[in-house]
Amino acid sequence: MSEKRRIIVTSALPYANGDIHLGHLVEYIQTDFWVRFQKLRGNDCVYVCADDTHGTPVMIRARKEGVKPEDLIARTHAIHLKDFSDFEISFDNYYTTNSPENKELSELFFAAMEKSGGITRKSAPQLWCERCGMFLPDRFVKGVCPKCGAENQYGDSCDKCGSTYAAEELGRPVCTTCGATPIVKDEEHLYFELEPQHEFLREWITGHTTSDVSNKLLEWFSEPLRGWCISRSAPYFGFKIPGTNDKYFYVWVDAPIGYLASLKNWCSAHGERFEDWWQNPKSERYHFIGKDIIRFHCLFWPGMLNVAGFAQPNKIFVHGFLTVNGEKMSKSKGTFVNARTYLENLPAAALRYYYAAKLGGTADDMDLNLADFVQRVNSDLVGKITNIASRGGQMLQKRLEGRLGSLDEEGRALVEKCRAASETIAKFYEDRRFNQVVVEVCRLADAANEYFDRREPWKTVKTDAEATRTTLTAALNAFRILAIYLKPILPVYAEKAMKLFGEAEWTWNSIFSARENCALGVYEYLASRIETKQVDAMIAQATVKPADSGEVAHESRASKNKEELAEHSSAIKSGSAIKSGSAIKSGSADAPVVPLKPEIAFPEFEKLDLRVGVVESCETVPKSSKLLKFVLDAGSLGKRTIFSGIRGAYPEPEKLVGREVVFVANLAPRKMSVGVSEGMILFAGEPGACGGVLSPADAAGAGTPVT
Ligand code: MSP
Ligand code: ZN
Repeated sequence: MSEKRRIIVTSALPYANGDIHLGHLVEYIQTDFWVRFQKLRGNDCVYVCADDTHGTPVMIRARKEGVKPEDLIARTHAIHLKDFSDFEISFDNYYTTNSPENKELSELFFAAMEKSGGITRKSAPQLWCERCGMFLPDRFVKGVCPKCGAENQYGDSCDKCGSTYAAEELGRPVCTTCGATPIVKDEEHLYFELEPQHEFLREWITGHTTSDVSNKLLEWFSEPLRGWCISRSAPYFGFKIPGTNDKYFYVWVDAPIGYLASLKNWCSAHGERFEDWWQNPKSERYHFIGKDIIRFHCLFWPGMLNVAGFAQPNKIFVHGFLTVNGEKMSKSKGTFVNARTYLENLPAAALRYYYAAKLGGTADDMDLNLADFVQRVNSDLVGKITNIASRGGQMLQKRLEGRLGSLDEEGRALVEKCRAASETIAKFYEDRRFNQVVVEVCRLADAANEYFDRREPWKTVKTDAEATRTTLTAALNAFRILAIYLKPILPVYAEKAMKLFGEAEWTWNSIFSARENCALGVYEYLASRIETKQVDAMIAQATVKPADSGEVAHESRASKNKEELAEHSSAIKSGSAIKSGSAIKSGSADAPVVPLKPEIAFPEFEKLDLRVGVVESCETVPKSSKLLKFVLDAGSLGKRTIFSGIRGAYPEPEKLVGREVVFVANLAPRKMSVGVSEGMILFAGEPGACGGVLSPADAAGAGTPVT
């Protein structure tokens, strides 16, 4: 084989604010195939990745959960890593963008970008939410499309007419976090100018992407390249830009630098020098990415590397998007499947095999057809390939003391046929045409099965043990070669097959040796059939009913009448109704079991500001059968007017005057048809029935009877 290559491979860094799903896996699984293939061929290959941790979504989610962003990303990191390793994806380093190496490198890049004269400062109007105290990123504001008038469109582009615009152009903008109307404020930002690199980038694209991708990208170059805004204003979770007060690097600045930081971190852990890897002229560097992030990898990233004097990637390998049963993944259809949900129902190897069978190294979308998935795994992986080993291995063990014999002429011809495909298959791997690898392996498995069936070992075993041994030896040696070919796609499977043959290591060249006149190990199951019902269970588990999803539930709430809303949200659904003079009991035996709402973490609870107020007045509301209007004396907070839907429990509301009640003081005021409600009085009872207001005395268990 030719000289050892030194290869650095990356997959795009998954965002730290979400779970890994089957769409992501299209990328990580195929990168893993390619890396494992390179290693099997004896090349020095390092596969680095990391969580992409910075940006507004992580910050907002951490805020919502009441945790520090650092804690949130540490938690996701562990979950992502477990998902990947259970899918047999093996990184040499899986790091984080929130690392010291990345901070240092980002600052170094920025200094170089500034030195090159590529950084400009411009003031531009931006939407500011008073209530959230922040500038709103495009995806955090919705409003009316300035072009076609469609409602409910994001701040960057319209789903209806496809036009793009600036968020400030939206009609009736609303902050998607808090619902407030943002205002327009001028804000200075930093830009990375790309036009000075117009020619460099145009040429770069032709040499660094496959032609299906580059033809499309060259359309960008008909006009001057626009500057790229690389700063974001505080509050932001990320790295501060040196020389500014409150500006942070936009997440897409430090994300690709995160590739280098992860590599650097791997180098220090392995006694290697970064310069000998990334900067080595003999190194090869490849990024695997999905088609949605081409702009960042084929424009901004090479532009940054160029001015900072870092080596460029050799190629960007772009893949398409996953569809399931021919459609975009959908939560309501149960086809938006998380890695974990899949693993709870089906084996990882089945998906790896199926993805290999479908991936052709192009940027076309790829369909996971669930019926086809079950069928292919069962008929090809199990019925065709594994069948050779299970039939041959079990017969050899049960009937022929588990000893392999020698290859006869016909057997040698079969094995040679398998070996002859070696370079064809290697080329398919190199070109990422994994589907062709699978086609070749299946073709060879057909030949092995045909040989097996023609020699009828199940018949000869009764009359001629040695002839049978010869047959099984050929079939098993053919299988052994196929298992070596499949090792990058099915590493755990290949590992078991290797043990069956009593070997300690397989490289690509192991196909040139044969196992003869030696013992076969114990046959362990390699792959078993999958059932449609496993797929059905997975889909059922992944199906999000409209009522379960936060968003939809919010909408359906909004459509309820406001009185109802007041009642619903003021009830504390304890296990049983509060009894006179008793503390809240949970789930007493005689009470029917009332399902609890999903568990909340302490930080969520802690956000409630609970105060005590004295009822100053309490009266019925005209035309409402449910509402009572309370005016509370809330001490230092002054007076609060609160509408509560608990009239049923208090036929004589005036009797509540003078009572102490507990109320939520920091709930956003709500405008109702009868007036503004400034908080929520706590009330305990069975859902649907009316209990009583919760007074401090009740909670202490000392009890004032509720009437
Ligand atoms: N954080 C950025 C990448 C930064 S790289 C410097 C990002 N993260 S992501 O989590 O949204 O996506 C990670 C990768 O998964 C991307 O390459 C993306 O294209 C890919 N996929 C995400 N959903 C996908 C499908 N449904 N189908 C195929 N690939 C998909 O983008
Ligand atoms: Zn807001």
